[in-house]
Order: sequence, then structure tokens, then C-alpha cells
Amino acid sequence: MTTTGTAPASTFEELYGHAPEGVWAAPGRVNLIGEHTDYNDGFVLPIAIPQAVRAYVRRRDDGVLRLASTRVPGAAVELDVTGLAPGGVAGWAAYPAAVVWTLRRAGHGVGGADVLLDSDVPGGAGLSSSAALECAVAAAYNDLYELKLEAGELALIAQRAENEFVGVPCGIMDQMASMVCRAGAALYLDTRDLSARYVPLDLAGAGLTLLVLDTRVQHDLADGAYAALRAGCERAAALLGLSALRDLAPADLPAAFARLPADLVPLVRHVVTENDRVVRALDELEHHGPAALGPILTAGHASLRDDYRTSCPETDLAADTAVAAGALGARMTGGGFGGSVIALTETAKAQAVADAVVDAFAKAGYAEPDVYRAVPAEGARRES
Ligand code: GLA
Repeated sequence: MTTTGTAPASTFEELYGHAPEGVWAAPGRVNLIGEHTDYNDGFVLPIAIPQAVRAYVRRRDDGVLRLASTRVPGAAVELDVTGLAPGGVAGWAAYPAAVVWTLRRAGHGVGGADVLLDSDVPGGAGLSSSAALECAVAAAYNDLYELKLEAGELALIAQRAENEFVGVPCGIMDQMASMVCRAGAALYLDTRDLSARYVPLDLAGAGLTLLVLDTRVQHDLADGAYAALRAGCERAAALLGLSALRDLAPADLPAAFARLPADLVPLVRHVVTENDRVVRALDELEHHGPAALGPILTAGHASLRDDYRTSCPETDLAADTAVAAGALGARMTGGGFGGSVIALTETAKAQAVADAVVDAFAKAGYAEPDVYRAVPAEGARRES
């Protein structure tokens, strides 16, 4: 067990009167490029980050699911696994309950457990804390109930849990990133068939730093904006007679625009050009190294700001300031409407870039952003 795990293990014993059988960790992620492409069958390029959700779990044989979190004081939430139903569990406990419900719906005869969750993934920061939570619980159940599911299957279970039980129509990127990412590599994922390719990403070796600037503006994907964007993309694909916008190439855009209502044109332009940016990013990474990603990141931000409209004044200020202060490129990462900006910078300039963003936020009267340095970390695993 890691040292960070020592205190939660004691808390588990205090709460439940026995020790956990094991600890499973699943990380948050930052997406380098490929935003809002996953529910269009497109490409994404995330890395897992060192921050993770840890699930301390002991299997129970009486069908009772007890859920507690080190972030939420008080007694555990107690549920009966046979009585789980979408809409029936409120707040954070819906996420772990959703995984158990989904496993049962998929025909896996899993029962109850005592669960304590501990996390250092900042919530609402666009770093995928919900998927990390789902994946940690899915990995624990997979081992304890000997389900023998592959990492990709567990990611799909976690996505279904969020779609059908929690009610957020997210794509598959976050759950796949949390389950299958590897240390030292970015994950090039085709979300149509889930084929994955690991692209070595040695930032330190290239003299680079990837800053994560958490604007601390909270987004809420359940608030309907994300669902509306997804519905717009699906409507556009249907109008064009395609199964998904992934099937459109940049060269097809002028003809496609002529067949679409004006409100769908910017959505389609973002998705198609963003998909193309992921393909180009892969090519740059493999042939010229990570520094070549800079302009692609900045172009991705402009597309989210002007076409997809998921940025906000705080993310725009962070991205613009980072680039003005010498970063090679910067963009909002994740679902948007707040959350975090990533900035790729020479390591020698990283502090100056971070300071410039903190200063700009102070001058604008915004809350001070939290700054992290992201390195590609490993995906979900059992820790003890
Ligand atoms: C959220 C969703 C993902 C993806 C991103 C945007 O993180 O969970 O599936 O759609 O937004 O790229």
C-alpha cells in the first residue's frame, strides 16, 4: 500500500469494523487534443495524470452496498444492490452505485461491498474525476468478484454507468483513458472501434513541461449543455446521411455546409477539424517530437472558443496569457464551460508562464488558478 493509502485504510476499519481486501487506483486524465470528438466516433489523444481515485473495498455476501468517501464526513450511504435504480441515489454515491447496477444489468452476478473512496483528482476541474471514480470501483469489482473483464470492457461498463444511471451522455474517452493509459505515453484512441496505440511522450527528455491550469470555474456536464451539443452533432450526421461526423473529411466540409442549417455549421466544423488535428498531432509527435504539438493545441482552443463555444472567459484568459508568456501552445481540456487549460511550454519558461496566468487572473478579479505539472501516468491498477 502507498503511504497516501495508510490513513484511508484506518478510516475504513473505523467505519466498517474490518480491513479492506484491497485498494484499486484509477487516474484522472488530461486530453492533449481531440475534444468532443469521442461521441462522434472520432479520435482522442489523452494522457492519465498522477492524481487518482482510490477505492478501498471489501466484498460482502449479504447484498448490502456501503459507500463512504474521505471527502464526505459522516456515516456511509447504505444501499441494497437489488434495489438500485437510475435516479434512486443522489450525489457522489450515484457514481459507484451506478457501476454496481451496470455490472448486474450486464448479467454479472455481483453483490454488495464495503467501499471507501479517497481521491486527489480535483473535482469539477475537467480532469475526469467521475470516470476515475467509476473505473476504480469497476476494477475492484472485477477482481473481487472474479469477473475477468478486460480493461476496455470495464471502461464500457463505467461509461454505461454514467450514461444510464447517472444520466450524463458522455463519450468513452475518459473511462478508456483512466483504464488503459500507460506511464510515459499518450493514448491515441479510435473511439469507433476502441483500437488504441501508445505514443511515447517523454516531455522531460524534450525539455518540456505540460502545465495544467485549473481555472476553478466549476462545470457541470449534467446541466444539459453537453447533451445539447451531442444532440446537435447527431442531428447533423443524420441530415448528412452519415452514421457519425467522423465520416466527414475536412475537404467534404463546403459541400456538407450547403446541406446543413446555419446553427449546425460551427459544430460540424469543430468536430471535423478537431479530428484532423488529432491525426496531425499523432504525426507530429511521431516525426518531430512533442514541441511540434504547440500550434495544434492553440488552434484547438480557438475552435472550441469560436465554433463549439465550450470555452469561457477564464479558460480563454488562461490559454491566451500562457501563449503570450511564451508557451508553445495552450488549450482548454475536457468537456468545457470552465475547468482546466493545458499549456505546453519549455521547462525553462514554465514558471514564468504559470506566474503570468496567476497574475492575469488576479488583475481580472478571478479566483487564483491551481497549477499542476502533468506527466503521463499509468492507468487503473490494483495497489494492494
Ligand atoms: C467530457 C466527456 C468525454 C468527452 C469530453 C470532451 O470529458 O466525459 O466523453 O466528450 O467531455 O472531449
